[in-house]
Amino acid sequence: MAWSDAHVLDQSGRTALVTGASGGIGLETARVLADRGAHVLLACRSMERGRAAAARIGGSTEVVHLDLTSLDSVREAAEGVRGRYERLDLLVNNAGVMFPSYRRTEDGFEAHFGVNHLGHFALTGLLLDLMTALPGSRIVTVASLAHRAGLGALDEDAARSSTGRRSLTAYGRSKLANLLFAQELHRRLATAGAPTASLAAHPGLSPTGLWHGDPPWFLRPVAAAGLRWLAHPADRAALPSLRAATDPHVPGGAHLGPSKLFESRGAPTAARSSRASRDMAAQDRLWKLSEGLTGVRYAFPSVPAPELSGVVCPVTDARG
Ligand SMILES: NC(=O)c1ccc[n+]([C@@H]2O[C@H](COP(=O)([O-])OP(=O)(O)OC[C@H]3O[C@@H](n4cnc5c(N)ncnc54)[C@H](OP(=O)(O)O)[C@@H]3O)[C@@H](O)[C@H]2O)c1
Repeated sequence: MAWSDAHVLDQSGRTALVTGASGGIGLETARVLADRGAHVLLACRSMERGRAAAARIGGSTEVVHLDLTSLDSVREAAEGVRGRYERLDLLVNNAGVMFPSYRRTEDGFEAHFGVNHLGHFALTGLLLDLMTALPGSRIVTVASLAHRAGLGALDEDAARSSTGRRSLTAYGRSKLANLLFAQELHRRLATAGAPTASLAAHPGLSPTGLWHGDPPWFLRPVAAAGLRWLAHPADRAALPSLRAATDPHVPGGAHLGPSKLFESRGAPTAARSSRASRDMAAQDRLWKLSEGLTGVRYAFPSVPAPELSGVVCPVTDARG
Protein backbone atom coordinates (compact mmCIF):
# COMPACT_ATOMS: atom_id res chain seq x y z
CA MET A 1 0.00 0.00 0.00
CA ALA A 2 1.38 3.42 -0.96
CA TRP A 3 2.59 5.53 1.95
CA SER A 4 0.13 8.30 2.91
CA ASP A 5 -0.46 10.64 5.84
CA ALA A 6 -2.49 7.83 7.43
CA HIS A 7 0.90 6.15 8.05
CA VAL A 8 2.19 8.98 10.26
CA LEU A 9 2.51 7.46 13.72
CA ASP A 10 1.31 9.07 16.93
CA GLN A 11 3.55 12.06 17.67
CA SER A 12 2.21 12.82 21.18
CA GLY A 13 4.87 14.16 23.52
CA ARG A 14 7.10 15.26 20.64
CA THR A 15 8.00 18.82 19.70
CA ALA A 16 8.50 19.73 16.04
CA LEU A 17 9.65 22.93 14.37
CA VAL A 18 8.69 23.54 10.72
CA THR A 19 10.17 26.53 8.89
CA GLY A 20 7.97 28.27 6.33
CA ALA A 21 4.81 26.84 7.89
CA SER A 22 2.66 29.82 6.89
CA GLY A 23 1.65 28.26 3.58
CA GLY A 24 2.18 25.61 0.94
CA ILE A 25 4.03 22.42 1.83
CA GLY A 26 5.20 23.66 5.24
CA LEU A 27 1.64 24.32 6.36
CA GLU A 28 0.55 20.83 5.27
CA THR A 29 3.56 19.27 7.02
CA ALA A 30 2.79 21.15 10.24
CA ARG A 31 -0.92 20.33 9.98
CA VAL A 32 -0.36 16.56 9.89
CA LEU A 33 2.25 16.63 12.67
CA ALA A 34 -0.11 18.65 14.92
CA ASP A 35 -3.02 16.39 14.01
CA ARG A 36 -0.97 13.37 15.18
CA GLY A 37 -0.37 15.02 18.56
CA ALA A 38 2.98 16.81 18.17
CA HIS A 39 3.44 20.29 19.61
CA VAL A 40 4.41 22.20 16.47
CA LEU A 41 6.39 25.41 16.30
CA LEU A 42 5.47 27.28 13.12
CA ALA A 43 8.59 29.27 12.24
CA CYS A 44 7.38 32.06 9.94
CA ARG A 45 8.68 35.39 8.70
CA SER A 46 5.21 36.94 9.04
CA MET A 47 3.62 36.49 12.49
CA GLU A 48 0.27 37.41 10.96
CA ARG A 49 0.45 34.66 8.32
CA GLY A 50 1.83 32.30 10.96
CA ARG A 51 -1.12 32.93 13.27
CA ALA A 52 -3.56 32.47 10.39
CA ALA A 53 -1.85 29.13 9.62
CA ALA A 54 -2.04 28.10 13.30
CA ALA A 55 -5.78 28.86 13.30
CA ARG A 56 -6.25 26.63 10.23
CA ILE A 57 -4.15 23.81 11.66
CA GLY A 58 -5.63 23.54 15.16
CA GLY A 59 -3.92 21.22 17.66
CA SER A 60 -1.02 22.38 19.81
CA THR A 61 1.04 25.02 18.03
CA GLU A 62 3.12 28.12 18.65
CA VAL A 63 4.19 30.70 16.09
CA VAL A 64 7.88 31.65 16.19
CA HIS A 65 9.23 34.61 14.25
CA LEU A 66 11.97 33.56 11.83
CA ASP A 67 13.22 35.53 8.87
CA LEU A 68 15.85 33.48 7.07
CA THR A 69 17.11 36.54 5.18
CA SER A 70 18.71 37.67 8.45
CA LEU A 71 21.19 35.76 10.60
CA ASP A 72 20.23 38.03 13.51
CA SER A 73 16.64 36.85 13.14
CA VAL A 74 17.81 33.22 12.96
CA ARG A 75 19.79 33.69 16.19
CA GLU A 76 16.83 35.37 17.93
CA ALA A 77 14.47 32.60 16.85
CA ALA A 78 16.87 29.90 18.06
CA GLU A 79 17.40 31.71 21.39
CA GLY A 80 13.64 32.03 21.85
CA VAL A 81 13.12 28.32 21.21
CA ARG A 82 16.03 27.37 23.49
CA GLY A 83 14.59 29.59 26.24
CA ARG A 84 11.23 27.86 26.17
CA TYR A 85 11.97 24.26 25.19
CA GLU A 86 14.39 21.67 26.55
CA ARG A 87 13.90 19.27 23.66
CA LEU A 88 13.24 19.34 19.95
CA ASP A 89 12.34 16.03 18.33
CA LEU A 90 11.82 17.16 14.74
CA LEU A 91 13.22 20.01 12.71
CA VAL A 92 11.87 20.42 9.19
CA ASN A 93 13.96 22.88 7.15
CA ASN A 94 11.21 23.60 4.65
CA ALA A 95 11.06 27.35 3.95
CA GLY A 96 12.25 28.43 0.56
CA VAL A 97 12.23 31.10 -2.11
CA MET A 98 12.54 30.93 -5.90
CA PHE A 99 13.07 34.02 -8.06
CA PRO A 100 12.36 36.43 -5.15
CA SER A 101 11.97 40.20 -5.45
CA TYR A 102 15.34 40.90 -3.72
CA ARG A 103 18.89 40.09 -4.86
CA ARG A 104 20.64 39.60 -1.57
CA THR A 105 19.80 38.82 2.03
CA GLU A 106 20.35 41.28 4.86
CA ASP A 107 23.79 39.72 5.40
CA GLY A 108 24.80 40.16 1.75
CA PHE A 109 24.28 36.58 0.56
CA GLU A 110 22.75 35.65 -2.81
CA ALA A 111 19.02 35.42 -2.01
CA HIS A 112 18.40 31.71 -2.81
CA PHE A 113 21.61 30.51 -1.18
CA GLY A 114 21.13 32.75 1.88
CA VAL A 115 17.50 31.81 2.60
CA ASN A 116 17.30 28.23 1.37
CA HIS A 117 20.67 27.02 2.62
CA LEU A 118 22.64 29.36 4.91
CA GLY A 119 19.66 30.38 7.08
CA HIS A 120 18.81 26.72 7.65
CA PHE A 121 22.45 25.78 8.21
CA ALA A 122 22.64 28.39 10.98
CA LEU A 123 19.26 27.51 12.50
CA THR A 124 20.06 23.79 12.62
CA GLY A 125 23.44 24.38 14.24
CA LEU A 126 21.94 26.68 16.87
CA LEU A 127 19.20 24.17 17.79
CA LEU A 128 21.22 20.97 17.45
CA ASP A 129 21.94 20.30 21.11
CA LEU A 130 18.19 20.31 21.88
CA MET A 131 18.06 17.23 19.64
CA THR A 132 21.23 15.18 19.99
CA ALA A 133 20.26 13.47 23.26
CA LEU A 134 16.89 12.33 21.88
CA PRO A 135 16.54 8.88 20.31
CA GLY A 136 14.35 9.17 17.22
CA SER A 137 15.05 12.88 16.70
CA ARG A 138 15.25 13.92 13.05
CA ILE A 139 16.26 16.82 10.88
CA VAL A 140 14.61 16.93 7.45
CA THR A 141 15.91 19.33 4.82
CA VAL A 142 13.61 20.03 1.88
CA ALA A 143 15.44 19.96 -1.45
CA SER A 144 14.11 19.89 -5.04
CA LEU A 145 14.37 18.17 -8.38
CA ALA A 146 16.00 21.47 -9.38
CA HIS A 147 19.15 20.47 -7.47
CA ARG A 148 20.24 19.06 -10.84
CA ALA A 149 20.28 22.61 -12.25
CA GLY A 150 22.74 23.70 -9.58
CA LEU A 151 25.72 24.00 -11.92
CA GLY A 152 28.90 25.94 -11.26
CA ALA A 153 31.05 26.31 -8.18
CA LEU A 154 29.46 26.51 -4.75
CA ASP A 155 31.98 28.96 -3.38
CA GLU A 156 32.10 32.32 -1.66
CA ASP A 157 31.69 34.22 -4.96
CA ALA A 158 28.47 32.33 -5.72
CA ALA A 159 27.32 32.79 -2.12
CA ARG A 160 27.69 36.57 -2.40
CA SER A 161 26.62 36.98 -6.03
CA SER A 162 24.08 39.68 -6.89
CA THR A 163 23.06 38.13 -10.22
CA GLY A 164 21.03 35.09 -9.12
CA ARG A 165 17.61 36.66 -8.51
CA ARG A 166 16.00 35.29 -11.68
CA SER A 167 18.39 32.40 -12.22
CA LEU A 168 17.30 28.76 -12.20
CA THR A 169 20.98 27.88 -11.70
CA ALA A 170 21.10 29.93 -8.50
CA TYR A 171 17.91 28.31 -7.16
CA GLY A 172 19.30 24.91 -8.21
CA ARG A 173 22.59 25.59 -6.41
CA SER A 174 20.71 26.40 -3.20
CA LYS A 175 18.80 23.12 -3.50
CA LEU A 176 21.99 21.21 -4.29
CA ALA A 177 23.37 22.80 -1.13
CA ASN A 178 20.33 21.45 0.79
CA LEU A 179 21.23 17.91 -0.31
CA LEU A 180 24.97 18.28 0.31
CA PHE A 181 24.18 19.69 3.77
CA ALA A 182 21.72 16.93 4.69
CA GLN A 183 24.27 14.24 3.76
CA GLU A 184 27.21 15.89 5.51
CA LEU A 185 25.09 16.44 8.62
CA HIS A 186 24.06 12.79 8.52
CA ARG A 187 27.69 11.69 8.37
CA ARG A 188 28.82 14.04 11.15
CA LEU A 189 25.95 13.00 13.45
CA ALA A 190 26.68 9.32 12.82
CA THR A 191 30.40 9.81 13.45
CA ALA A 192 29.60 11.56 16.73
CA GLY A 193 27.34 8.67 17.75
CA ALA A 194 24.31 10.98 18.04
CA PRO A 195 20.86 9.33 17.80
CA THR A 196 19.64 12.22 15.63
CA ALA A 197 19.14 11.44 11.94
CA SER A 198 19.49 13.86 9.06
CA LEU A 199 17.45 13.19 5.92
CA ALA A 200 16.45 15.03 2.75
CA ALA A 201 13.09 15.12 1.01
CA HIS A 202 11.78 16.79 -2.11
CA PRO A 203 8.10 17.41 -2.86
CA GLY A 204 8.09 16.95 -6.62
CA LEU A 205 6.03 19.71 -8.22
CA SER A 206 3.19 21.55 -6.49
CA PRO A 207 1.30 24.76 -7.36
CA THR A 208 2.25 26.69 -4.20
CA GLY A 209 3.34 30.24 -3.46
CA LEU A 210 6.86 29.28 -4.54
CA TRP A 211 5.76 29.79 -8.14
CA HIS A 212 4.60 33.36 -7.53
CA GLY A 213 8.15 34.69 -7.87
CA ASP A 214 9.54 36.51 -10.89
CA PRO A 215 11.05 33.90 -13.25
CA PRO A 216 12.84 34.68 -16.52
CA TRP A 217 10.35 34.87 -19.43
CA PHE A 218 11.44 31.58 -21.06
CA LEU A 219 10.68 29.59 -17.91
CA ARG A 220 7.09 30.82 -17.60
CA PRO A 221 5.51 28.50 -20.22
CA VAL A 222 7.61 25.54 -19.03
CA ALA A 223 6.55 26.14 -15.43
CA ALA A 224 2.88 26.57 -16.41
CA ALA A 225 2.89 23.33 -18.42
CA GLY A 226 4.76 21.44 -15.68
CA LEU A 227 2.35 22.59 -12.99
CA ARG A 228 -0.64 21.78 -15.17
CA TRP A 229 0.38 18.24 -16.17
CA LEU A 230 2.81 16.97 -13.57
CA ALA A 231 2.04 18.62 -10.24
CA HIS A 232 0.19 17.38 -7.18
CA PRO A 233 -1.47 19.43 -4.41
CA ALA A 234 0.50 20.65 -1.40
CA ASP A 235 -0.97 18.07 0.98
CA ARG A 236 0.45 15.30 -1.26
CA ALA A 237 3.69 17.19 -1.88
CA ALA A 238 4.23 17.29 1.89
CA LEU A 239 4.31 13.47 2.15
CA PRO A 240 8.06 13.01 1.41
CA SER A 241 8.87 15.45 4.25
CA LEU A 242 6.37 13.74 6.56
CA ARG A 243 7.69 10.30 5.77
CA ALA A 244 11.30 11.40 6.24
CA ALA A 245 10.32 12.98 9.57
CA THR A 246 8.29 10.12 11.00
CA ASP A 247 8.79 6.73 9.32
CA PRO A 248 11.08 4.68 11.61
CA HIS A 249 11.93 2.39 8.67
CA VAL A 250 13.59 5.23 6.77
CA PRO A 251 17.22 5.58 7.90
CA GLY A 252 19.35 8.68 8.32
CA GLY A 253 20.99 9.79 5.09
CA ALA A 254 17.97 8.87 2.98
CA HIS A 255 16.53 11.18 0.33
CA LEU A 256 12.80 10.82 -0.34
CA GLY A 257 10.60 12.14 -3.12
CA PRO A 258 7.48 11.27 -5.10
CA SER A 259 7.45 8.01 -7.02
CA LYS A 260 5.79 8.86 -10.36
CA LEU A 261 6.24 10.93 -13.52
CA PHE A 262 9.96 11.64 -13.10
CA GLU A 263 9.47 12.14 -9.34
CA SER A 264 7.06 15.04 -9.91
CA ARG A 265 4.10 13.44 -8.09
CA GLY A 266 3.02 10.23 -6.37
CA ALA A 267 3.59 8.51 -3.05
CA PRO A 268 6.88 9.15 -1.23
CA THR A 269 9.73 6.72 -1.74
CA ALA A 270 13.51 6.75 -2.31
CA ALA A 271 14.52 9.64 -4.57
CA ARG A 272 17.42 9.94 -6.96
CA SER A 273 20.24 12.31 -6.10
CA SER A 274 22.61 13.77 -8.67
CA ARG A 275 26.24 12.69 -8.71
CA ALA A 276 27.20 16.23 -7.63
CA SER A 277 25.07 15.92 -4.49
CA ARG A 278 26.85 12.69 -3.51
CA ASP A 279 30.33 14.20 -3.78
CA MET A 280 31.71 13.88 -0.24
CA ALA A 281 34.49 16.40 -0.84
CA ALA A 282 31.89 18.95 -1.99
CA GLN A 283 29.77 18.18 1.10
CA ASP A 284 32.74 18.89 3.36
CA ARG A 285 33.69 22.06 1.42
CA LEU A 286 30.15 23.42 1.66
CA TRP A 287 30.10 22.73 5.40
CA LYS A 288 33.30 24.73 5.95
CA LEU A 289 32.10 27.55 3.68
CA SER A 290 28.78 27.69 5.57
CA GLU A 291 30.50 27.78 8.96
CA GLY A 292 32.70 30.61 7.74
CA LEU A 293 29.83 32.63 6.26
CA THR A 294 27.39 32.21 9.16
CA GLY A 295 29.83 32.02 12.07
CA VAL A 296 27.84 29.03 13.39
CA ARG A 297 29.89 26.06 14.60
CA TYR A 298 28.03 22.86 15.38
CA ALA A 299 28.33 21.32 18.86
CA PHE A 300 28.29 17.58 18.18
CA PRO A 301 28.22 15.21 21.14
CA SER A 302 31.72 14.13 22.10
CA VAL A 303 31.33 10.33 22.24
CA PRO A 304 32.48 8.97 18.87
CA ALA A 305 30.91 5.82 17.43
CA PRO A 306 33.26 4.90 14.57
CA GLU A 307 31.19 1.88 13.57
CA LEU A 308 28.36 4.22 12.51
CA SER A 309 30.58 6.50 10.47
CA GLY A 310 29.48 7.04 6.90
CA VAL A 311 26.36 4.86 7.06
CA VAL A 312 24.04 5.71 4.17
CA CYS A 313 21.09 3.36 3.66
CA PRO A 314 18.71 4.28 0.86
CA VAL A 315 15.02 3.42 1.21
CA THR A 316 14.18 0.44 -0.95
CA ASP A 317 10.44 0.44 -0.58
CA ALA A 318 8.28 -0.37 -3.63
CA ARG A 319 7.17 2.67 -5.59
CA GLY A 320 3.54 3.58 -4.93
N1 LIG B 1 6.21 23.83 -4.82
C1 LIG B 1 7.07 23.14 -5.56
O1 LIG B 1 6.79 22.75 -6.73
C2 LIG B 1 8.41 22.78 -5.00
C3 LIG B 1 9.25 21.98 -5.78
C4 LIG B 1 10.50 21.65 -5.26
C5 LIG B 1 10.88 22.08 -4.02
N2 LIG B 1 10.05 22.86 -3.28
C6 LIG B 1 10.53 23.31 -1.95
O2 LIG B 1 9.50 23.14 -1.00
C7 LIG B 1 9.71 24.05 0.08
C8 LIG B 1 8.38 24.70 0.44
O3 LIG B 1 7.97 25.53 -0.64
P1 LIG B 1 6.45 25.69 -1.07
O4 LIG B 1 6.31 25.08 -2.40
O5 LIG B 1 5.54 25.31 0.02
O6 LIG B 1 6.41 27.28 -1.31
P2 LIG B 1 5.57 28.41 -0.57
O7 LIG B 1 4.13 28.10 -0.59
O8 LIG B 1 6.02 29.69 -1.20
O9 LIG B 1 6.08 28.33 0.92
C9 LIG B 1 7.36 28.77 1.26
C10 LIG B 1 7.39 29.10 2.72
O10 LIG B 1 8.69 29.64 3.02
C11 LIG B 1 8.49 30.85 3.71
N3 LIG B 1 9.59 31.78 3.55
C12 LIG B 1 9.98 32.41 2.42
N4 LIG B 1 11.00 33.25 2.69
C13 LIG B 1 11.25 33.12 4.02
C14 LIG B 1 12.16 33.74 4.89
N5 LIG B 1 13.01 34.68 4.47
N6 LIG B 1 12.16 33.38 6.18
C15 LIG B 1 11.28 32.46 6.63
N7 LIG B 1 10.37 31.86 5.86
C16 LIG B 1 10.36 32.20 4.56
C17 LIG B 1 7.21 31.42 3.15
O11 LIG B 1 6.70 32.40 4.00
P3 LIG B 1 5.67 33.55 3.51
O12 LIG B 1 4.31 32.97 3.71
O13 LIG B 1 5.97 34.68 4.42
O14 LIG B 1 6.00 33.83 2.08
C18 LIG B 1 6.36 30.16 3.10
O15 LIG B 1 5.84 29.85 4.35
C19 LIG B 1 10.79 25.02 -0.41
O16 LIG B 1 12.01 24.65 0.19
C20 LIG B 1 10.85 24.79 -1.89
O17 LIG B 1 12.13 25.07 -2.44
C21 LIG B 1 8.82 23.22 -3.73
